[in-house]
Amino acid sequence: MKKYNVAVIGVGAVGIEMLRVLKQRNFPVNELRVFARSARDIEVDGEIYSVKPITPDGFGGIDIALFAGTEGEKGAAVTYAAEAVKKGAVVIDNGADFRMDLQVPLVVPEVNAADVKSHKGIIANPNCSTIQMVVALNPIHKKAGIKRIIVTTLQAASGAGKGAVEQLKEETSLIAQGGFNNVHVGAVNKSMPQQLAYNVFPHIGSFAEGDYTNEEWKLVKETHKIMHAPKLKISATTVRVPVRTGHSESVYIETDKYISVNKVREIFSKSPGVILMDDPNHNIYPMPKDVEGRDEVFVGRIRQDAFVKNGLWLWVVADNLRKGAATNAVQIAEELIK
Ligand SMILES: NC(=O)c1ccc[n+]([C@@H]2O[C@H](COP(=O)([O-])OP(=O)(O)OC[C@H]3O[C@@H](n4cnc5c(N)ncnc54)[C@H](OP(=O)(O)O)[C@@H]3O)[C@@H](O)[C@H]2O)c1
Repeated sequence: MKKYNVAVIGVGAVGIEMLRVLKQRNFPVNELRVFARSARDIEVDGEIYSVKPITPDGFGGIDIALFAGTEGEKGAAVTYAAEAVKKGAVVIDNGADFRMDLQVPLVVPEVNAADVKSHKGIIANPNCSTIQMVVALNPIHKKAGIKRIIVTTLQAASGAGKGAVEQLKEETSLIAQGGFNNVHVGAVNKSMPQQLAYNVFPHIGSFAEGDYTNEEWKLVKETHKIMHAPKLKISATTVRVPVRTGHSESVYIETDKYISVNKVREIFSKSPGVILMDDPNHNIYPMPKDVEGRDEVFVGRIRQDAFVKNGLWLWVVADNLRKGAATNAVQIAEELIK
């Protein structure tokens, strides 16, 4: 079997998971290079990885570059992705920098694997909350045609990176020492705009058009692109909750054709990447604490709307660092080498 030279850029919340997923899925790696801003050795599951400072020359001979550095003008992908492509690598980027670029496919393999083929050097990995939503909704869309989505997300701290997890831990410990409200003021770690311990806040990303946040617009625009459904009506509210890892979503959909709850359950039980966990009489429904470390999207609480015949409610949970980031990126790499 052919083996590939792979680079992982960034060893934060997603990058560490990327190293883990490459190994767990037996990705055919010949040489592995790990880059970040600064050099050090890191240990992941008992294995030591030597992290090198990133430089443009570091991409020579690399076949696949998995970017999990920070986003934006000075971020890893904007600074180094073009250089990696010039040197012959295909870049799979976890950040938002290229997702809406018409030249860049935005891929969730369970939904639009074929789009990988149209890449011109860069493939984008969608936002974590988008990935889990489209994995769950696409099978229903194919059967009954979805025309409306209203989603409220409950997103874990790790979705905002390792600094946010540190903030949650520090605030929780300050509360245990006797503080309660406003521990954020005294905390050293301030990766998020508000206190997260013993709190929730409807503010992920920055406020943008129409007073929606850019995280909310990602759910709209990325879903349009991935599902090839530019007219789908989508409204989102994204909320940060004091969970370490695992995003939950309360999703309302309206379909063109009527579809029963039983039929939806049957579809989910056969859909790739989806696990049906829906037995309310036995208190069975997905929760973030149970899906940490898992690669699938879990769906439960499937109900017909009490007032709208073609309206359905779903509860969708997935590990934001695995299916929401690293696993999806490695699955894209697997499509690439097929
Ligand atoms: N967390 C999630 O659930 C999630 C889900 C989907 C997508 N994403 C996206 O994935 C990316 C990584 O997120 P994260 O949560 O892992 O962030 P993170 O925990 O903050 O880690 C960022 C990592 O990137 C490295 N880095 C930053 N700027 C760099 C640069 N210019 N060159 C090279 N390396 C650089 C950092 O290096 P040092 O360690 O040396 O500082 C660090 O290792 C982001 O674009 C994020 O939006 C995250």
